[in-house]
Amino acid sequence: MNILVIGSGGREHAIAWKLALSPAKPNIYCAPGNPGTAGLGSNLTLPDSSPAAYLAAAESIQADLTVVGPERPLVDGVVDLFHSHGKLIIGPTASAARIEGSKVFCKSFFERHALPTAAARKFTSRAEARPHLSSLGYPVVLKTDGLAAGKGVIIAANETEALAALQALPEAPLLLEEFLTGEEVSFIVYVKDGRAIPLEATQDHKTIHDGDQGPNTGGMGAYCDGRILNAQQTALIMDTVIEPTTAGMSADGHPYSGFLYAGLMMTSEGPKLLEYNARLGDPETQALMHRMDSDLLATLLDGATPTWKPDPSICVVLAAHGYPATPRTGDLIHGLGSTACEVFHAGTKATPQGIVTAGGRVLGVTGRGPTLEAARANTYRELANISFDGMQYRTDIGAKGLKRW
Ligand code: AMP
Ligand code: GLY
Repeated sequence: MNILVIGSGGREHAIAWKLALSPAKPNIYCAPGNPGTAGLGSNLTLPDSSPAAYLAAAESIQADLTVVGPERPLVDGVVDLFHSHGKLIIGPTASAARIEGSKVFCKSFFERHALPTAAARKFTSRAEARPHLSSLGYPVVLKTDGLAAGKGVIIAANETEALAALQALPEAPLLLEEFLTGEEVSFIVYVKDGRAIPLEATQDHKTIHDGDQGPNTGGMGAYCDGRILNAQQTALIMDTVIEPTTAGMSADGHPYSGFLYAGLMMTSEGPKLLEYNARLGDPETQALMHRMDSDLLATLLDGATPTWKPDPSICVVLAAHGYPATPRTGDLIHGLGSTACEVFHAGTKATPQGIVTAGGRVLGVTGRGPTLEAARANTYRELANISFDGMQYRTDIGAKGLKRW
């Protein structure tokens, strides 16, 4: 069996790594992949990142199955194109992927189907929003429309900050949204033939610095622990959030399939939706794949309910100098071969001198342990073997969980 994984980040390396462990022993191809995925099979070079280029890659290797990592190809219609050529691919169609591509579409969808979410007002431009800043309760959340790689959201503590935030956002429709408090949880399901299969809950760490300080990033680390949500909370989320969402998508004429990621705030009034992503999370996937006990391929193809190792897992992202604003590339990475953890590649590049940094998030060092404390200790100990100039990472990944339990 030939499997193509689309994408080049840490999430895609983790998906490819887990698929390579399948008892079906598939051949793994990644397009374009990264130096980490090269070790699992073959990386395919693409002329560009259009749906047509991915289809040509899948046809060139006679792919039996294609798995899409990032949102961009989904929003561009890669699934629609594969379907029109009768090729099996995991992911939502372009119209279903709008649940991630447009925050304004998403908010209207939440309201239409009475899904629990923060109260918000929609504006077509920054100028239209400006006069309303003086009459809001603070803090307030400003969200710009369109894909922004997790960077289109600004939390303003007062009117002065909100004015500055408005200037900083691109000119596009935007939302001014109520600020929610509680534990933030990444709740990801796999939707197959209208049935949503929950994965274990994870928690991401969005800001660059320890203690949730500094600007937001794509995610600086995640952990997966069976205690993040109990069975009752999971059932409540499935009943009040996920099932009405998949039913609503079908009722609206764009039935969902593939991975659906609900960003939730567990508030005192219950789970509330912050956003949906039409894909797996990064770095949540690295922690999830490391903890998944069962065969990912069986879930993808047959909808088998996944099982999980009891040990918690954590993924700590090593980011480049200057990330998130201006990541520097070309720094030589030392010590890659000398860790007992799984090291998922993201922004790396192979050069004659060795593997160098080639993006903002460079590596995801991922480990487990019999307790969350042990998982943290194992992962941070191994991470200390890796270094590159300007390397940044958070030292508190998973510490939230330690505080709660
Ligand atoms: P989003 O891209 O909508 O997930 O927002 C990015 C991050 O901003 C989220 O992960 C939250 O940490 C934070 N955030 C977004 N919306 C809210 C909200 N209404 N209340 C509090 N925090 C929020
Ligand atoms: N880690 C957040 C995301 O994948 O959107």
